[in-house]
Formats: sequence, structure tokens, C-alpha cells
Amino acid sequence: MKSTATAQPIYKKTKRLILRPLEIHDYENWVQAHSSMRPPQNEWDETNWITSELTQKKFKDHLKKHAQWRAQDHFYEFGVFRKDDGVLIGLVTLMDISRQIFQNAYLGYRIYNNHWGQGYATEACKGVLEIAFKDLKLHRVEAGISPTNKVSLRVAKSIGLRKEGLSRRRLFTNNGWSDMVLYAGTSEEFGIKFRFPKNKTVK
Ligand SMILES: CC(C)(COP(=O)(O)OP(=O)(O)OC[C@H]1O[C@@H](n2cnc3c(N)ncnc32)[C@H](O)[C@@H]1OP(=O)(O)O)[C@@H](O)C(=O)NCCC(=O)NCCS
Repeated sequence: MKSTATAQPIYKKTKRLILRPLEIHDYENWVQAHSSMRPPQNEWDETNWITSELTQKKFKDHLKKHAQWRAQDHFYEFGVFRKDDGVLIGLVTLMDISRQIFQNAYLGYRIYNNHWGQGYATEACKGVLEIAFKDLKLHRVEAGISPTNKVSLRVAKSIGLRKEGLSRRRLFTNNGWSDMVLYAGTSEEFGIKFRFPKNKTVK
């Protein structure tokens, strides 16, 4: 199956936000985003970065890794930037892209905790779903959410994903295997007709 990896990074504007890959000039914004966060507010509020690690070298390595993953059509990370002041307020990802007969991705989202409760996750994720179905021409997007992560469950529902059920012992964390509630949506459900790339056949 033809890869739909795009040579050009994808940019998308929503009412209040710009969604795009992080770029080298975002370094200060990225440092600021992490250093202005409040202490973790719940067990899912982890960023994987500690302040002393926010070096230019680490940022460059991060960009390089994500550029490779985009080129491989494997993983797309979108910085969520506020339109009015350009501040980086979170990240939304399309992970583990599976093409061939699946044309599927997993959606991940994080808004930095000093910007919670303003509808940003909902707006950003809706934008990334459009990218998934229109730009990346995926057929299906899934989100796996801890049954106790009530706000994330609300996000999945608000952005139009449909609850599929409980996926047992799906995710391995420090606490061992844990269950996830699986949400999903297909391009048809979002009003977008899916077509496999013309020059390929499915075997
Ligand atoms: C989950 C997360 C992305 C939500 O970000 P957010 O920008 O605050 O979310 P929104 O403002 O778009 O709100 C989404 C919904 O949750 C509700 N909500 C937001 N904060 C809430 C709170 N503290 N308590 C109850 N409901 C809340 C909103 O009312 C909205 O529901 P609605 O659409 O029915 O009105 C953010 O909390 C986060 O990054 N958490 C840590 C990482 C994480 O859990 N990621 C998801 C892993 S699957």
C-alpha cells in the first residue's frame, strides 16, 4: 500500500489554535511551556521531561526523531499553539500508524495543566481528526483511555469518537497491565469518503 506520508509538514488552523509540528524556533516556547506548568495534577499528568533536561540538544534530538517518524509515516506529533499569542499549550499525536488493510492510528493528547478547562483539548483533537482523515487519508482513529480518566473520556466523546468497549490488560505501566476504554471513529462517521491509494491493491 502506498505511503501517504507527506513531504511537507502539515499545518492546520482552528478557531483559536494552530496545529503543526514543532520547529527549531519553538525552543524557547517549549522550555516555557514545561517550566510554567503546575505540579502534576493527576496520574496521567506526566510530561516525560524534567526541567534540567530541557536543553537545546534534547529539543533538536526530539525534532529529528519526529521528522524521521513523519517521513516513515509512523507517528505524527502536533504542537498546539494558541493563535493570539503563539504560546505552546499542548501536544496531540497520531501514533502507531498502521497502513495496509488497517489504515488506522491511535490518538493521544495532552494540554499543559496551566491551560486546562478551556476547551483546548476538544478543539485541538477535532482539528487533528480532520488531519487524520483528510490529509493523512486514514480510515480509522482510536483512543484508549483509562476508565478512571474522566476528563479524557469526556474529550473522546466530545470530539465524536464512539465508545467500543473495555479493552482488558491493554497497556503496561509502572503499575503493571491496565485496562483501557476504547473509543474510535472512522472517516465515514466523520463524513469523509475513504479511498485506498489508486495504484495499489489490497491482497
Ligand atoms: C485530558 C486533557 C487533555 C483535557 O484537556 P482540557 O483542555 O482541559 O479539556 P477540555 O477543556 O477540552 O475539556 C474536555 C471536557 O472535559 C470537561 N472537563 C474539563 N476539565 C474538567 C474537570 N476538571 N472536571 C470535570 N470535567 C472537566 C469539559 O467540560 C469538557 O467536557 P464537555 O465537552 O462535555 O464540555 C488534560 O486534562 C490533560 O492533558 N490531562 C493529562 C494527560 C491526559 O490525561 N491525556 C489523555 C490520555 S488518554
